[in-house]
Parts: sequence; structure tokens; C-alpha cells
Amino acid sequence: MLTVQDLTKHYGPRIALADVSFSLEPGEFFGLLGPNGAGKTTFMSLVAGLRPADAGEIFFNGERFSPERIEQRAQLGYVPQDLALYVDLTAEENLRLFGQLYGLSGALLRERVAEGLRAAQLEKRRAEQVRKFSGGMRRRLNLVAAVMHHPKLLLCDEPTVGVDPQSRNAIFEFVEKLHAAGTTVVYSTHYMEEATRLCSRIGILDHGKLLAIGTLDELLAELPFTEQIRIARNDATSPHEAIFQQFGQVSTGDDAYILQPRAGLHLSEFFAAMERVDVPYRHLTVTRPSLENVFLHRTGKSLRDG
Ligand SMILES: Nc1ncnc2c1ncn2[C@@H]1O[C@H](COP(=O)(O)OP(=O)(O)OP(=O)(O)O)[C@@H](O)[C@H]1O
Ligand SMILES: [Mg+2]
Repeated sequence: MLTVQDLTKHYGPRIALADVSFSLEPGEFFGLLGPNGAGKTTFMSLVAGLRPADAGEIFFNGERFSPERIEQRAQLGYVPQDLALYVDLTAEENLRLFGQLYGLSGALLRERVAEGLRAAQLEKRRAEQVRKFSGGMRRRLNLVAAVMHHPKLLLCDEPTVGVDPQSRNAIFEFVEKLHAAGTTVVYSTHYMEEATRLCSRIGILDHGKLLAIGTLDELLAELPFTEQIRIARNDATSPHEAIFQQFGQVSTGDDAYILQPRAGLHLSEFFAAMERVDVPYRHLTVTRPSLENVFLHRTGKSLRDG
């Protein structure tokens, strides 16, 4: 469906994307996970044909992508991170305009506008100017405006930034529905929870480089531990770190220790020691590592720190 090869982009001396290569099969839900400044928007804008790459190639369905080719662009939907709406127009007028730009008219256009308003949960506010909308409402409209023509490949650039959990869920459901109907999705985010929940394959981007790519299982498999143990303290001053260190790598958070067991450790040994030494704690949880751990493992820094 989409292949990028050695895609590279500089802004002056700054490198925003460096030799990014990967391929997507039709129907994939691909996540591009990376902190601020990683190059996500740059990647999206190159694939959307809004900016030229300095080097590298983009192929759609095996054919070289050229922004001038209308039939290629018609297969593409782009949800920009910076909202692309006309605030002086109403919700309905915006959708009609986007639909017309994609060549829709007549009954089909009316149908798609109605579908969009319904999906964005803005039917009741259809006749209001977008400038009177909240940020979350604008995000929802921005998303449906990009899919008026039912694209085969949808590029979503951080579509949930700044929205409340309810709008976020509405956006997830909408994109998941498009995906279920056969749309291939590229979804950028700096929230590992979103990438974990939505995406069948994830690429980790940092400083313009694609550091890793794979399914969640494949990415987690590169970690030297398969679970983490969180030990919530009941006494902030208790000096138990040394005990935990026998079992693996320990980090100390505000109210808990996080233990990453060393390879080959039987968890029963750890629990036996906890009982033997009678370490006081509030509760223990054994969890699966996350993409945050993968990012930390690869870059030595936290995804949250940027
Ligand atoms: N128009 C521009 N001119 C100069 N530098 C730019 C421009 N756009 C982006 N950059 C730089 O390119 C790098 C990648 O930026 P980009 O916007 O692609 O990152 P991002 O992953 O989308 O970040 P965010 O999560 O903050 O949206 C950054 O260092 C940024 O400062
Ligand atoms: Mg961005």
C-alpha cells in the first residue's frame, strides 16, 4: 500500500527525518510513536505531498508517488496536527467545502456531509460557526473533514491532542471504524497508550530516525525482561532497595519501587525473599513492560521527557 525508502528531510542544518524506510500492507493500522520534535509531522507532510523530500522515495501501491497525480491524492486522507478548518464557516459548510474539494457533489455529497456530522457528533451544532466550537469539537470535525472522500490511506497526525477522554474515545472509535471498513491507517502519537491500543504495528521515531518497527510483541521481545514488578511503599523511608537489587534492576519512584527482574529469575524466588525479610509494602503488581520501556531501552531517555 505504502512504501517509503530512505526518506530524508532537513530544515536548513536541522535534520527532521533521516533515511526512514518501511512498507505497509493494505489494511494495516500503523502507529508512528515519538516525542515532540521526533519528525512525525514532517513524515506525514511528505507522504501527504505537502512538502518535497530532500532524498528518498514514496510509493503508493507500487507506483512512485507524485503529488501532481490527482488519482493518487484521491486515495489519500490527511488529518493535520494543526487544524485545517475555516472558522468563519459552519460545521456543515466546512464539510461541504472539503467534500467539493475532493470532487463530491449532489446526493453523495449530502450523504457524506450528514455522515461526517454524525461521526463528529456535531449534528446539533451543524449550523454554528467553527469559531464557536471547543478544541475537542474542532478536532473531531478536522478528522471527519479529511475522510469525506473515503480515502484508502488515512494519515492521522496526533488527532487526539488536547481533547477530553470522551472526545478521544469518539476519535478512536471513528478511526477504528474506518480501519474495519478497509482503510489503511498511519497514526502518529506521543502517547504510548494510544499506539498500544490502536496499532497492529508500531514504528518508534526519535530525532528523525526510525529506531524500531514491529508489533507490540516484537518490540517488547527485545527487552531483557518480560515483566516488571511494582512495589508500592507504605513507608517512604524504608531502605529496601538493596534487597530488591539482588533480583534485577531497581528504580525508585515517588511511592513505589519498580523492579525489572534479571533474565532467568523465577518470580517465586523474589516473592519468597519478600516474605522471608518481611518487607513492608502497600501492594505489589506484576505488569507487562510497555512501549515506554522499549523507548527507554533504545534511547536511554523517557518518552515523556521528550
Ligand atoms: N517548518 C520548519 N522549519 C524549521 N524546522 C522545522 C520545521 N518544521 C519542523 N521543524 C523541525 O523538525 C524537527 C521535527 O519536527 P516535527 O514537527 O516533524 O516533529 P513532531 O514529531 O511532529 O513533533 P510534535 O510531537 O511536537 O508535533 C524538529 O526539530 C522541528 O523543530
Ligand atoms: Mg507534529
